[in-house]
Amino acid sequence: MTGGGVAPVDLTVNGEPLTLLAGPGATLLDLLRSRAQLTGSKQGCNSGVCGVCTVLVDGKTARACLMLAADCAGRTVVTIEGLDDDPHAAVLGEEMAKAGAVQCGYCTPGIVVALTDLFRRTAVPPDAAAVRHWLGGNICRCTGYVSIVEAAVRAGQRSVGADIEARAP
Ligand code: FES
Ligand code: FES
Repeated sequence: MTGGGVAPVDLTVNGEPLTLLAGPGATLLDLLRSRAQLTGSKQGCNSGVCGVCTVLVDGKTARACLMLAADCAGRTVVTIEGLDDDPHAAVLGEEMAKAGAVQCGYCTPGIVVALTDLFRRTAVPPDAAAVRHWLGGNICRCTGYVSIVEAAVRAGQRSVGADIEARAP
């Protein structure tokens, strides 16, 4: 423990072991944005509702605003920045751009992280209903969701359970 109740938290972020200082009550989102300068994870409702802070913790979708920093010791976190080389995320990005599924873009990192998790879990490309269900916790105030769902279905068809290198857009 250091002064003012600030304590170090050891965790792995995007493959890199880090020790980040967390103040009292700090969340994982605070750590990522303020201490690690990883601002791709956005801050919205701060109460687990909007999904813009979505990251992967130990390989599963999690709301970074709901996790206490102190509880993240020893965990492995992947943010949108850590998906730069992820083939599912790359295909999603292409399809979302083509479909006009990115407007202000505030929701986009959380949606890409969540859908990447879905694509990694399933052997069968998700249909529109499955995508809508999975994205139930990701709010978009711009698009009306139709273009996002369309893009996700197309991306899934290209990348899920396939050698995605071999599937041209
Ligand atoms: S900021 Fe985390 S769910 Fe809204
Ligand atoms: S594109 Fe603006 S909130 Fe989704």
